[in-house]
Amino acid sequence: IQSFFREKTLAGKKVLITAGPTYEAIDPVRFIGNHSSGKMGFAIAEAFYFLGADVTLITGPTHLKTPYKEIKRIDIISANEMYEQCQAHFSDMDFAVLSAAVADYYLEDVAQFKIKKKDIPSNNLTLELKETVDILASLGSIKRENQILVGFALETNNELANAQLKLISKNADLIVLNSTQVKGAGFGSDNNKITILSKEGIIENSDLLSKKEIATIIVSTISNYKK
Ligand code: CTP
Ligand code: CA
Repeated sequence: IQSFFREKTLAGKKVLITAGPTYEAIDPVRFIGNHSSGKMGFAIAEAFYFLGADVTLITGPTHLKTPYKEIKRIDIISANEMYEQCQAHFSDMDFAVLSAAVADYYLEDVAQFKIKKKDIPSNNLTLELKETVDILASLGSIKRENQILVGFALETNNELANAQLKLISKNADLIVLNSTQVKGAGFGSDNNKITILSKEGIIENSDLLSKKEIATIIVSTISNYKK
């Protein structure tokens, strides 16, 4: 029934979307993670679906339900698993939108058994962390001329300059900058305010809107973007 309401604007186009956090294991019962709810990425998946695109959604742990059964959902837990799934699917894609909040660090040595307090000397536990693979940069380095690669950025200072630097250094076509300066936007919230940058500079600036409305703006900007 829902398919009846789908437009054909992006019929035949393939889109990869990443969403949610990643969890990096410490031991069998603990992890390092972040506050991403997945709402923004799921809303982007839904907006692409409404325009008729063939959507693959690679998501970290979230309570969200897949909005439509035609959206191909791949559940992963860690940054490395997200990387592997992105690598496996990217070559087929017309668009890739990496909205996941990927953990920046992981433990190379995950404890086989639960870490017990009594085994930790002097009440101080030190964990050694390594940088995770940069998924956006990895796709940027294999991207073809006809593929559009979109990253996200969240900055607390020098927002535009830092976002522009990410665009260039990761070879993305567009960066969606999430505003942290506005009350009621961001993690867990239903609202967001964004700026979209290309190599040429700012191409879109939104008001504070619901994540669904923001997703519609993001998807129409991406699908109308000409390199
Ligand atoms: N990203 C990624 N793989 C990582 C880390 C980030 O693909 N290991 C992607 C995110 O999905 C996002 C973009 O890179 O699309 C920017 O993420 P952000 O956390 O803002 O930037 P980082 O490069 O991780 O730098 P920092 O956190 O130090 O600002
Ligand atoms: Ca980061």
